[in-house]
Amino acid sequence: MNYWSWNSSLSVGIDVIDGQHRRIVDYINELNVAHLENDRDKVLEVLTGLVDYTLTHFIFEEELMEKAGYPLSDAHKKVHKTFVAHINKFVEQHNSGKDITRRLMSMLQVWLTNHIKNDDKDYVPLVKKSLNKKKGWISRIVGRLFG
Ligand SMILES: [Fe+2]
Ligand SMILES: [Fe+2]
Repeated sequence: MNYWSWNSSLSVGIDVIDGQHRRIVDYINELNVAHLENDRDKVLEVLTGLVDYTLTHFIFEEELMEKAGYPLSDAHKKVHKTFVAHINKFVEQHNSGKDITRRLMSMLQVWLTNHIKNDDKDYVPLVKKSLNKKKGWISRIVGRLFG
């Protein structure tokens, strides 16, 4: 069952980034299914996948921003780092036996919506420009990180 559906207001206009954000939304929906099934092992499994995938997405974005010379990339990196620490706290709470799934899903939805619409959209014009200049390197990075 879908907890959250992707919609075009979340699109940043770079397909490869949109695809990764969609995958994160899918993870949140998988988390919802595991929660509804009352399956704590599955919650942990999805949570682990979500954290891992999100980390890789962040590394990907950070490389793109750096290559494009985006001036706010350090601040953006810090926001990513704080978010990861926040999710890790939820994982710890889950591991200590608490039921954090619904709280986590709503936090993820709010945080991701804001982050995508504000922080991510902000780097898009510069990253797009640099992607047009250096075609080919994006598929190399995708291959290295996600392959
Ligand atoms: Fe992102
Ligand atoms: Fe980001």
